[in-house]
Amino acid sequence: MKYISLALKISITYFLFGLLWIYFSDNAINLLVKDLEKLQFLQTIKGWLFITFSSILIYFISYKLFIQIESKKEELLKSNELLEKIIENAPLIIFWKSNKGVYLGCNSKFLQLINLTSKDELLGKTDTDFSILEKENFINDDMIVISSCQPKLDYLETVTTKNKILRILNTSKVPLFDNKGEVIGVLGVSEDVTEQINNQNKIKTQEELLIQQSKLAAMGEMIANIAHQWRQPLSVISTLSTGMKLQKELHISNEEYEKESLDNINENAQYLSKTIDDFKNFFKKDNNKTNIYFKELFEKTFKLIQSRLKNRDIQIIQNNYTQIRFDTYESELIQVFINIINNSIDAFENISEDKYIFIDVKEFDNKIVIKIKDNAGGIDKNIIDKIFDPYFTTKNEKQGTGIGLYMSKEIITKHLNGSVEASNIEFEYLNKSHHGAIFTITIPLNKDK
Ligand SMILES: Nc1ncnc2c1ncn2[C@@H]1O[C@H](COP(=O)(O)OP(=O)(O)OP(=O)(O)O)[C@@H](O)[C@H]1O
Ligand SMILES: [Mg+2]
Repeated sequence: MKYISLALKISITYFLFGLLWIYFSDNAINLLVKDLEKLQFLQTIKGWLFITFSSILIYFISYKLFIQIESKKEELLKSNELLEKIIENAPLIIFWKSNKGVYLGCNSKFLQLINLTSKDELLGKTDTDFSILEKENFINDDMIVISSCQPKLDYLETVTTKNKILRILNTSKVPLFDNKGEVIGVLGVSEDVTEQINNQNKIKTQEELLIQQSKLAAMGEMIANIAHQWRQPLSVISTLSTGMKLQKELHISNEEYEKESLDNINENAQYLSKTIDDFKNFFKKDNNKTNIYFKELFEKTFKLIQSRLKNRDIQIIQNNYTQIRFDTYESELIQVFINIINNSIDAFENISEDKYIFIDVKEFDNKIVIKIKDNAGGIDKNIIDKIFDPYFTTKNEKQGTGIGLYMSKEIITKHLNGSVEASNIEFEYLNKSHHGAIFTITIPLNKDK
């Protein structure tokens, strides 16, 4: 349209100019010259002048136009080349197809992906011409994009070529439109994320291994705990059964006493079996969240470290959190509490005064804040920034591996989307001032989900 009106403008101007030239020059000559022969001669000269002048004009106009066309052509060629270079050098796999699924173009990364050496092997063909395991999925995705006229963005797909190499791609497909807004094809852009995903999986298995490892490390202590917790009921069972046997031998058995003893033995046996269940549950891998009261979580925690606490005369002081309950990975959170409380117990090693561990749980702003505080003297300020680092320990090899707090932080931040911090605190309790460490765990609740 733009060029038609431009051409029209030029020719109309030329027409008007010619018209005016003829009209005025004819009139001027007619006025000035009366001699017919002279008049004819001047008319011829005027004709020649007009042709010469307009030829020069046409020459300059067309010369300018040709120069412009040429430079536009060059610009187009350059921008085409640039576009090709961008497509070729982009760190992405790029291809485009017609709305019938026929390949129209691609970059060499796409050729590499499907094991082709030149574009000739690809152009004009469709996915059905290649031996790729997932070709049905590709065709379906193309159809969805073309028929809905909507892009399909950022989804993961796999490509397994005939030599059985599997690549994982993060792909986006967008419809291609012509000037009239009709879909004429589909453009696909993929990023090869195989290494990334494999690394993520590796890190995940390593993390899981570490969790298991730290559970195993805790197991040694647990076994000592089981032994300790079993000693008492086993001795009760043994005493009662020996007593009954003795009464039988001496023929002084008393039915009332026997019944009571058997009930007692049964109770103790059930307690033994219950402690085994507690430990078994702790070592199970948490796959699902369970809804649990905090009170129960801490009861379970204390059961597992009961003997350590009792042996060292450590008092646990808890605030009133009986009503707070939430969905969580139970044994992982218990592991975190055990790690933190075990550290406090270790820190009490050379302390002879009253030993306290305070547990404070509060629920507000759709989150749970748990504070575990001791009066064991606090964490040396030179190391406080490092205590969450893996393998950082101030204990000797037998007493600590230095993964306790690292693992706890991993569980809280990565599995429960929360945060954990450590600091030192001075506080008053029973009219005495105390100094110790405080661990603050914050876990979002996401109750709306
Ligand atoms: N309540 C605390 N009071 C004083 N120091 C603490 C306390 N909690 C942690 N620490 C310091 O933080 C360090 C790291 O703790 P972490 O639990 O990660 O490792 P660890 O207890 O040394 O070994 P393990 O992996 O067996 O638990 C401890 O070695 C200790 O120096
Ligand atoms: Mg520890």
